[in-house]
Amino acid sequence: MYIRSMLYVPGDNDKKLGKVDTCGADAVVLDLEDSVAPQNRAEARRKVRAFLDQRPIGARKSKLWVRINAFDDSALVDLAAVLGGQPDGIVQPKIDSPEDVQRLSYMLDALEVRDSVPTGQTKICAVATETASAVLRLPEFATAKLPRLAILNWGAEDLSAAIGASTNLDSSGQWTLTYRATRSSMLLAAKACGAQAMETVYVDYRDTEGLRASCRAAAQEGFTGRAAIHPDQVAPINETFSPSMEDVELAKKVVAAFDSVDGVGTVGIDGKMFDIPHLKRAHRTLKLHEMYSL
Ligand code: COA
Ligand code: MG
Repeated sequence: MYIRSMLYVPGDNDKKLGKVDTCGADAVVLDLEDSVAPQNRAEARRKVRAFLDQRPIGARKSKLWVRINAFDDSALVDLAAVLGGQPDGIVQPKIDSPEDVQRLSYMLDALEVRDSVPTGQTKICAVATETASAVLRLPEFATAKLPRLAILNWGAEDLSAAIGASTNLDSSGQWTLTYRATRSSMLLAAKACGAQAMETVYVDYRDTEGLRASCRAAAQEGFTGRAAIHPDQVAPINETFSPSMEDVELAKKVVAAFDSVDGVGTVGIDGKMFDIPHLKRAHRTLKLHEMYSL
């Protein structure tokens, strides 16, 4: 099941946690990392665990994921605290390579046994572009065997900090080459390993039209969902990542046209040519439509 919107909620903030059940996001990320001040982290772990315990799997309005801290920080302490609450998945920040995802998988193997969680239930979303090494090693996802890995996400802010850049935008407000190349590599890595490609956050959370335009562009490029930082971003994201009725109608026509004739690789519909790549795209649109209509 794909996730269109993934809303980050600081794990120590009662008021924001109180909005989770009505936010409408496909998934919520209860954050223990960068939206929580280090001195509040222990309290955030307790709050997030209690939040999960009060919403057992099957009684959740949104999928509940948890973002842990990096391995050289408190990753294992975070995991040990929350896993018994059966989060649907773990968001793993600041990886250096797919080997870090493998390492997290092993930790989950052990903790799932300890906490009587079904083996393999806990999925992983790797934030795969937050260090220079992670970006250079993105192609390794193509051959990695990581059954828990459901989503790859990218981020520009931590990468700029990691490489000592003072900005990631050019004078026209577009990502500079390093970030465009990184985003593109992550998209291809996700497709190559069968993970969902998730677009990064749109930080200007009052600019709904800008968000919509940016989501439409991402969806056209093959991204299938987006991280959100504010509840107002959820509905526009859900809408723009769901195939439109026109897309669905056209996809049905294309499939029907190919079904109606045996053994052809090209059909004409309303004066336009459609061939096998169009048929593949049509099947993909119908699959997304089905998943997002549930
Ligand atoms: N999750 C749940 N509720 C949220 C929320 C979030 N991410 N962001 C805002 N809200 C709530 C606010 O508490 C507020 O509630 P109220 O109407 O009861 O007062 C309401 O939505 C409107 O919020 P608003 O006043 O517009 O924004 P804000 O100034 O309270 O918060 C941010 C702005 C950016 C600080 C906030 O959106 C946020 O914390 N986002 C998440 C940041 C994060 O997790 N970053 C890490 C991932 S990149
Ligand atoms: Mg980050």
